[in-house]
Amino acid sequence: MYNNRLEKIVDDLANAIASALAENNVTREEYREGVMYLMKVAEAKETVLLYDVFVENLVIKNQDRRYANSPQAIQGPYFVEEVPVITDGKLKTLPQDNEVPLLIRSQVTDETGAPVEGATVFVWHSTPTGKYSKFHDEMPTEYYRGQVKTDANGRFELETTMPSPYSIPNKGPTGALLLAMGRHTMRPAHVHFKVRKDGFRDHTTQAYFQGGEWTDSDCAGGIVDGLIFATGEEAGKKVLEIDFKLDKRFTLAA
Ligand code: DHB
Ligand code: FE
Repeated sequence: MYNNRLEKIVDDLANAIASALAENNVTREEYREGVMYLMKVAEAKETVLLYDVFVENLVIKNQDRRYANSPQAIQGPYFVEEVPVITDGKLKTLPQDNEVPLLIRSQVTDETGAPVEGATVFVWHSTPTGKYSKFHDEMPTEYYRGQVKTDANGRFELETTMPSPYSIPNKGPTGALLLAMGRHTMRPAHVHFKVRKDGFRDHTTQAYFQGGEWTDSDCAGGIVDGLIFATGEEAGKKVLEIDFKLDKRFTLAA
């Protein structure tokens, strides 16, 4: 028997890896090479990236089956907690030639459909050329990111610009693995959201765009049914309407 939950989780993980290796007749030498590969991933500081690409989407899909909320998606490596509070309905963007204005219109409800007032919604996405502030091009954190509060009807509106497809870092071991598998390193254009309100589970998700490039072959496996949106058009702006249904705070069974 197991002494504690940690002991069981570690054993289950080790057994899951071992059965995948046995199923594919992986040799001792190949196993050793795999472990050495993981060393390289750590040395290149790509551990988070590797797990974001290969594991996070599976974790979320499995967890979501247990909740009655709207679909969630991976967080990815570029969430930042300390971002401007948006009160004028606009994310700060940098003027760029190819930018397309985007209006995001949302409502946050609880699992019964009742509006959730005063929820904090973090929104972040790439520039029109696929870069994230704070992480790329020394772009200051206040660009293309912010947090808004929902009104008495659980709603908010936010103006920004369309994100574009994004290549995950492809010069290191994670990119090398994807390429060796015959895959590419692109993610489709997407907008990230994290909705937070006391008494509910944090709701982390992404919106993708119908017809967008790479929408059917995301290298991070992050596409989920119900998260691909057709955009409307209003006064020269694309319009994304996405609603979030929260779930009551979840506690792990002992
Ligand atoms: C990665 C980047 C993203 O923008 C994202 O949403 C998910 C993953 C990445 O680089 O792995
Ligand atoms: Fe992203």
